This record gives sequence, C-alpha cells and structure tokens, in this order.
Amino acid sequence: MSALRGIADLGALEKLPVIVRADLNVPIDEDGAVIDDARIIAAGATVKALMDAGAYVIVLAHLGRPGGQPVMGTTLLPVAERLSRAVGALVAHAPDVVGPLAKAAILNLRPGDAVLLGNVRFEAGEEADDDAFAARLAAPGRAFVFDAFGAAHRRHASTVGIARHLPTCAGFVVQHEVAALESLRDSGALDGAVVVAGGAKAAEKLPALARLAERAQAILVGGVVAHVLLAATGEAELGASIVDRSALDAAREVVAVAARSGCDLVLPTDVIATDGLTTDARIRVEGARTVPEGAIALDIGPETRAAFAERIATAGIVVWDGPPGAFEMEPFAEGTRAVATAMASASGTTVVGGGDTGSALRGFGLAGEMEYLSTGGAALLHLLAGLPLPALEGLR
Ligand code: 3PG
Repeated sequence: MSALRGIADLGALEKLPVIVRADLNVPIDEDGAVIDDARIIAAGATVKALMDAGAYVIVLAHLGRPGGQPVMGTTLLPVAERLSRAVGALVAHAPDVVGPLAKAAILNLRPGDAVLLGNVRFEAGEEADDDAFAARLAAPGRAFVFDAFGAAHRRHASTVGIARHLPTCAGFVVQHEVAALESLRDSGALDGAVVVAGGAKAAEKLPALARLAERAQAILVGGVVAHVLLAATGEAELGASIVDRSALDAAREVVAVAARSGCDLVLPTDVIATDGLTTDARIRVEGARTVPEGAIALDIGPETRAAFAERIATAGIVVWDGPPGAFEMEPFAEGTRAVATAMASASGTTVVGGGDTGSALRGFGLAGEMEYLSTGGAALLHLLAGLPLPALEGLR
C-alpha cells in the first residue's frame, strides 16, 4: 500500500485556511465533563502542528449520534476546552457548523489560531454526504486534512464529501494508524488470531467480523453485538435486552463464514441481567439464551468470562474492540475487567481499539499493558478485515 499524503505535501501553511476533520467522539458525563481525553490528545498533534505553522485552523468533529439536529449533551464545547489544553493555546468554539457563528469565528482567526466548529451531526447533510452541504463545509478552507481515523469507515460529508472540493491529505493520527495497522494486516499475523468484539455497534462490526472469521481461530463476542448473534443462532429468549434486528443477516453471515473456515464463534453462555437501572433493581446471573421477560442483559457472566480468558491467554495475537458489558456501571464492569486483565497478562500480541474500550482500559489502569491501542473501533476492525475505508480512498 502506498503511503498517504501528509501535511508536508500541502506546501506553505502560513495564512492558509485549513479544515481538519478530527475524531473527538469522547465519552462525556452527565455534568458535561470529558471522561476520557485520549482521542483529543491524539488529535491535538495535528492541530498544534498546523497552528505552529501559522495556518488558520478550522476543526470539524462529531459527538454522539444526534441524528441531524442539535441534541442536549452532544455539544463540543467541553471538547474545545480540553483540546485547548492539549495544544497549549486557546481553541475557540463556535456552536454552529455553517451558520453565522461559525462564519464569524472563522473571520476572527489570526494566523496560528484554531476554532472547533459545532457538532457536524447537528446537520442533516452530514450523514447523507449531501454534496451541497459538503461544499458549504469546504467553503472557508483552501486545504483539507483528514485525521479522524475512527470515522474513516463513514461516508459522510465531513469525512469524504469535503475531499471532493479541496486538496486533501492525512493528519498524523491517520498516517500513524494506517501505517501500523496495514503492516499488521499484511504481515500474516492475523492468521490464527483471537478476536474479541463487544460494545453496541453491531451493524458496523459484524461485516468486519465475517471477514476476520476467514483468518481467525476464534471470535469471542459479548455486549450488544452478541445479542444479535444469539438471536441468529437458534432459540434465544433475550428479555428486554437490546437486539439490533437490522443486523440479523450480517450476523448469519458471520456464523456461516466461521463454520466454513473452522473459526470458533464463542458466544456468551451466561450473562449478568437486571430488572432495571434503579438502585434497588435485582441483579443476577442468567443463561444467555434464557433471559426472563423484562430483564436486560448488561454483561457477560462468570462462565463466559472464564471461557474468554482461557482463549485470550493462549492466543498468538488478540484483537479486541468493544467492551462485553456496560462497564461504566460498576455492577456490569466484571466482564470488561476480566477481558482487560486477561489481555494484560496474555503472552501474545495485544491490539485494542475503540473509544470505550480504551477508556475502560485506562480506568482499570491497564492501557499501558497493551501492545497497540488504536483510536478507531469499527474503523480498526474494517481496516484489519480488508474492508474499504471510504475516507482514505482519496489520500494515497
Ligand atoms: C467511534 O466512536 O467509533 C467513531 O467516532 C465513529 O462514531 P460512529 O460510530 O457514531 O460513527
């Protein structure tokens, strides 16, 4: 694979208006504070380099899934504050994306200044990759730096659309991740790997798991991703647990490829279930396929934890994306802690991705034990699986 064009290929940066798409999709708590800033710190390197070179730096990012309109709790203001700390200079924030506040903030920039515009997903044109919207996003810039590795699998206006309107290159995060992960993918090291998948994003992870099943010795699945696989593989009473039924076909494909390729698909046999999220709710172990009506499975159970740990311990390489439980709530953190602990003491190479997974590892104090920690979640799986990452297409 040829290298990606970088910032050095843009030529003189002094007084150049540069649009940077960063992945600043970080967990925010109920009080609006950033819980884990790893993605912000990573993105800061590119933003700072452009500021130091005297560019006018216009940063675009998404937070959560507000669905095309402003939604409480998804403003990027706390992220702008944390980004300012990361680059050691003020990064202004404009609450809108292409509106008057954004325009005014851009006009106010002096060489070396930066502004983070509003959440791009407040705009309906973003996820539709509407070209008129992409042109409006691109309008204030003279160059585009794509640095949102975690969103590289998204065909959105701010990931691929702007690149139709401006000279484009990769930022430092994307260059580093793509070089490291492509060399891992192409080295043959993934043959016989153990892949651990969890989290909530079943629809985007399952197609990658199907491709990885061709090479892996085992795929261990927890979290919401497991629920759809349980539903796709026979009788499963899942109570009130989240099941993404739109992903059932993709789940069946994983099952079929795994069977054909001799890859063990290890699904939960037991789960930690609760009647609700109130403090007096009854929390107990249930069979993964016999969750009672009204109960919600929120973590893998002890038997599943032991099975996962055993497979991780002996693997030559383990790739992990997505927590197997709702680890943010202590009663449902044991599954994620067990996987993290098994990864930390594994003898093989450990590759971990995803905002939540990284955040969990940092919370357990185990992030430093991993060989490679990616800022991408589904994007990491897509790259390792050899699936296209649309935002990278124009960068070579
Ligand atoms: C992520 O958190 O994996 C990336 O920021 C992409 O977010 P998305 O799945 O909401 O597109």
